[in-house]
Amino acid sequence: MNPLQEIRDRFTPLLEQLQVNPADYLGQIRPSQDAKFGDYQANFCMPLAGKLKRNSRELAAELTSQLDLTGLCDPAEVAGPGFINLRLKDEWLRAHLQAALGDPQLGVNPAAEPRTYVIDYSSPNVAKPMHVGHIRSTVIGDSLAKITRFLGHRVVTDNHLGDWGTQFGMIIYGLKHFSDRVEYERNPIGHLSGLYRLVRKLVDYQEALSGLPRQEQSCVEQEQRLEQLRAQPLPSDKREAKERNKELEKGAQRLADLREEVAGLQGKIAAVQQDSRLSSLAAAHSRIDAAVLEETAKLHAGDEENLRLWREVLPFCREDMQRIYSRLQIAFDQELGESFYHEMLGPVVASLRQQGLARESEGAVCVFLDGFETPMIIQKRDGAFLYSTSDLATIEYRVKTWNPDVILYVVDHRQHEHFEKLFAAARLWGFQDVELVHVSFGTVLGDDGKPFKTRAGDTVGLESLLDEAENRARQVLAELHGETGEQLPGNAERIAEVIGIGALKYADLSQNRASDYKFSYDKMLELKGNTATYSQYCYARVMGILRNAETTLESLSSRPGPLQFAEPIERTLALALARFGETLEEVLVDYRPNLLAGYLFELTQTFFRFYDQCSVVQAATAELRTSRLQLCALTALTIRTGLGLLGIDVVERM
Ligand code: ARG
Repeated sequence: MNPLQEIRDRFTPLLEQLQVNPADYLGQIRPSQDAKFGDYQANFCMPLAGKLKRNSRELAAELTSQLDLTGLCDPAEVAGPGFINLRLKDEWLRAHLQAALGDPQLGVNPAAEPRTYVIDYSSPNVAKPMHVGHIRSTVIGDSLAKITRFLGHRVVTDNHLGDWGTQFGMIIYGLKHFSDRVEYERNPIGHLSGLYRLVRKLVDYQEALSGLPRQEQSCVEQEQRLEQLRAQPLPSDKREAKERNKELEKGAQRLADLREEVAGLQGKIAAVQQDSRLSSLAAAHSRIDAAVLEETAKLHAGDEENLRLWREVLPFCREDMQRIYSRLQIAFDQELGESFYHEMLGPVVASLRQQGLARESEGAVCVFLDGFETPMIIQKRDGAFLYSTSDLATIEYRVKTWNPDVILYVVDHRQHEHFEKLFAAARLWGFQDVELVHVSFGTVLGDDGKPFKTRAGDTVGLESLLDEAENRARQVLAELHGETGEQLPGNAERIAEVIGIGALKYADLSQNRASDYKFSYDKMLELKGNTATYSQYCYARVMGILRNAETTLESLSSRPGPLQFAEPIERTLALALARFGETLEEVLVDYRPNLLAGYLFELTQTFFRFYDQCSVVQAATAELRTSRLQLCALTALTIRTGLGLLGIDVVERM
């Protein structure tokens, strides 16, 4: 049981007595921001008093007098307008931690009512090299799966590969027109991704050529609009003037965006025109954009040759992804890609039509949804099915197969509207009992605040990202050892890998997933920052302390003895340790692994303060020494388990 839950449980009967829904108020019992207000603080008396039309301080006093805190907290105190301050009893804390030390779950109880989660994450479009954007979905999804499992729920992880889309039309086109047999046999993955990139460039070129005039026109129009707006005198009314300025600002931003788009298209055109080989290929394949769609359509229609090529190529693409997944130590329960659902798409459309939920509009089959400007298209005029169709089929399959309570989609925020529509359509279609959640995340930015790209403007491949992270980790280790004068341990390569990959994952996981974040190798490997490196370093330090004391984690946790709080910092550390379970629960409320990262950072800081103030090996008495070693051990176990739930390893020395 975690202390926060235990405290909330004690309040529940009192709230029930007042005939309010406890769930509306219990969330306002939280860890105190400042130790002088106790360990936890209940802040709900103010809103509750408002509802009951009572005085909040009196209400707080009344609740406090009725509250049964036996064995859990010291008597509660009322402060200010009606805050209730709570402090855990030292005995409770000691007993809780002693039990946690001897428990592989570290005192975190499995959920009383386990739920079934399907977690859809990573889900790259295969045949395109994986890039930095994929790392977010992959590491956030993996850590949510691990945490959910740790809390005792059933979890099915599913990598919903994009293995059936236009990118295969591109590869098939490439194989038919540009393939070099010898090269293909020598290095299939390299050759295929080369073909993909080439066709992509040519398609982009044609699309840019045809799209540029319209885009330039929009630019000119926006310039004129802005010009006119600027020419008007500023309104004298303050509010109106403010409105106008806002409008101007928005207009300028829109113009900047349009200009950027134009520059992008021009860049795509220049990339081909400045290269004589590419420009002659572009001239010879001027219909390539349409041709690629035709190849895709033929594949979907069961064309033998295209299916054969698809079957031939897919294993190479998977192998390529697998290399990255192994380096990241990511594995899935299921890898049911879009192709798996292909046969089910016709019936999905038929079912929606039959129920009167979908109908034809301008030749396409659409689901019209309340609250959306545009309908959701599930079949194009040419008969092609869409991403949405296959996502509907996926929901049906998942519900039938695993009967989940929740399906999480860890996908970037640009697909927000897709999922809003998908969920609305699924509910109409009859899937009301399953909770559908888009766990969305922001973009990875470079130093310049723009989406992270290489100098040449390409997206950064994941492989080179991992290599560089490991290189930097090697440097950090070398510096660390330069300072201490110690020899690098024999398995330095393995250590660099754990530190480098850990830093990369943690950099992502420690951010609020909703926001964009700036990618920086230096920041993510800071020895004293909010980094994996800092907590890994802490773990290694504790292991050093235990070696020094000639003991081990195993022996300390196999026979945990009584704990002592001789110095205030020992209790502070104990409290931090006791909060592991409630942090994990908190992560699942809104699917935010950054709360766990933040927790580990604070725990690490608290540990180093403790270690600064308290002698461990040289403690005054044998009992105190054991107690402190136990706090060390539980810190190490909590860091190891916590980082593990983020998908990050620890090392015994670094
Ligand atoms: N393959 C898609 C992409 O790369 C993401 C798929 C996410 N999952 C889903 N069920 N739609 O954009």
